[in-house]
Amino acid sequence: MEEIILYDPLDMHLHLREGEILKDIIDFTASSFSAAVVMPNLSVPITSTDLALQYKKEILMNAKNKDFIPLMTIYLNDFLDENELKIAYDNGIKILKLYPKGATTNSQNGLDEILTPHTLKLFEIAQDLGFILSIHGESKGFSLDREYEFGKVFVSIAEKFPKLKIIIEHMSDHRSIELLETYENIYATLTLHHITMTLDDVLGSGLKPHHFCKPILKTPKDKEMLLKLALQAHPKVSFGSDSAPHLEKNKLNNNAAAGIFSSPFILCALSGLFEKYDKLENLQDFISNNAKNIYGLDNLPKKAIKLHKEKSWIPTQIKSNQNNIVPLNAGEVLDWNQVL
Ligand code: NCD
Ligand code: ZN
Repeated sequence: MEEIILYDPLDMHLHLREGEILKDIIDFTASSFSAAVVMPNLSVPITSTDLALQYKKEILMNAKNKDFIPLMTIYLNDFLDENELKIAYDNGIKILKLYPKGATTNSQNGLDEILTPHTLKLFEIAQDLGFILSIHGESKGFSLDREYEFGKVFVSIAEKFPKLKIIIEHMSDHRSIELLETYENIYATLTLHHITMTLDDVLGSGLKPHHFCKPILKTPKDKEMLLKLALQAHPKVSFGSDSAPHLEKNKLNNNAAAGIFSSPFILCALSGLFEKYDKLENLQDFISNNAKNIYGLDNLPKKAIKLHKEKSWIPTQIKSNQNNIVPLNAGEVLDWNQVL
């Protein structure tokens, strides 16, 4: 029996939601990952330490796997003050998340203008304290150019704050790769969908709302170049699923919610992908070691996840809140299966 063991898998970008949805999805991640960076874009955004600690409690209460560690984040907004940042850091919250206003789900409390005196001051304090700045980097321009156009903001922050680690979240455009290579303090997370799918999967044959996410899936060249980064486990990238569940009714209505739900099958799919390209030896770095280095995660409890070369099935749907959540590639068969 062929077997893979992955040590301390880490998902560095995850949406767990709250309430019923949280209950229904948390163990997909908690049963496979040691820890995950939990995004703060709830309907009431996580803008303070109190809210983050309360949310952390709700996550832990609902996870059956009690060894799972949620790494909490703070939502950067116009009202965040310096003192709150210090309190957050003292309480173990080390990631500051920046959403441009209106860029994605629940980003209405994000920043309309990014480089204001207020945010520059916060970046300076974040740098001094040792925060990591995770950015949803998209402009308000044409969809396929939004990440590229935002590049100048990354450059500006990276140059002004050379000791601040900045993460290009869910990198989707091959033109962003240059930033990783030019600036010592710029890193990236990569999703499964941006390294395996393109815009044609969204609209190439019928409109597929379950494939709609921000940043939008891009060209074959983007996909290929990002896949290459992942397969070589480039030391400046770590895995971040950006698994973002929405109720089916909210994906199918007029305002189709952006977000791809992938947490039920990530490790099985990544194993198949790395095997296909004969790069299984790099999966451990991509799924854990790189993130440990970049985010300074030394003291996580140990977890070993075993996968066997045998068929597994992606669930067709998860029942939640009297509706469904439909995973990416629902119902498909995978070549690897997680065994306990
Ligand atoms: C995310 C969500 O639904 O919260 N959606 C998405 O399309 N990725 C938010 C985000 O990370 O952009
Ligand atoms: Zn996200």
